[in-house]
Amino acid sequence: MPQRPIADPEAFIKAHLKLVAVPSLPRVRLYRAQPTSGLWRLAEVSGKDAPSPYWAYGWAGGLALARYVLEHPEAVEGRRVLDLGTGSGLVGIAAMLSDAASVLAADIDPNAVAAAGLNAKANGVALSTRLADLTAGPPPAGVDLVLVGDLFYDPDLARRVAGFLGRCRAAGMEALVGDPGRAFLPHERLTRLADYPVSDFGDGMGAAATASAVFRFT
Ligand SMILES: C[S@@+](CC[C@H](N)C(=O)[O-])C[C@H]1O[C@@H](n2cnc3c(N)ncnc32)[C@H](O)[C@@H]1O
Repeated sequence: MPQRPIADPEAFIKAHLKLVAVPSLPRVRLYRAQPTSGLWRLAEVSGKDAPSPYWAYGWAGGLALARYVLEHPEAVEGRRVLDLGTGSGLVGIAAMLSDAASVLAADIDPNAVAAAGLNAKANGVALSTRLADLTAGPPPAGVDLVLVGDLFYDPDLARRVAGFLGRCRAAGMEALVGDPGRAFLPHERLTRLADYPVSDFGDGMGAAATASAVFRFT
């Protein structure tokens, strides 16, 4: 029998994903995909070009950046933060738990925006969410600090994100990047701040630990 399209991603996430503590960051709980979650049904609504459900999994860059923000609350405290490519919302949630003044969580995937909002509520914090590709435009108003978790995996996206961060820096904002050393990382603009081994990324099923790092975008 054909499946009915999913009209309400929030209801779908609550019904089919499991709210679990992030193993390396037990202060944070996120809805995570299970083998039985049937995420393909979410993609059905958006057609064959639907974005991959990155928001349902952990990412080495985001895990490192979230840990850095939780261990160094002074990096975000009182600041207006943009979590670019928020996915699950993990990095933005960590920033709010460390007393950021506000977090704007932006993503191009409507299901990620829904998941980030739900995950924020589950952690007792509020994120403003925006469904948009901010990399194409000018630096957003009302932002002091841009956080970027794991966005340098694709050459075109990496070029756009680096250009955007360059414009944000020129406008007086700071930027931090979490990344496990992906191929398109703009090393010439980065100063390494911290290294973390992470293992709870991807489907989290016995992933070997990998090195991830946090950088300041200069
Ligand atoms: C690898 S995931 C990282 C998610 C999250 N930052 C983390 O580290 O857990 C990449 C995310 O970036 C989003 N994304 C891709 N291109 C984007 C763009 N141009 N603007 C905003 N988000 C984008 C994807 O939809 C996805 O949610």
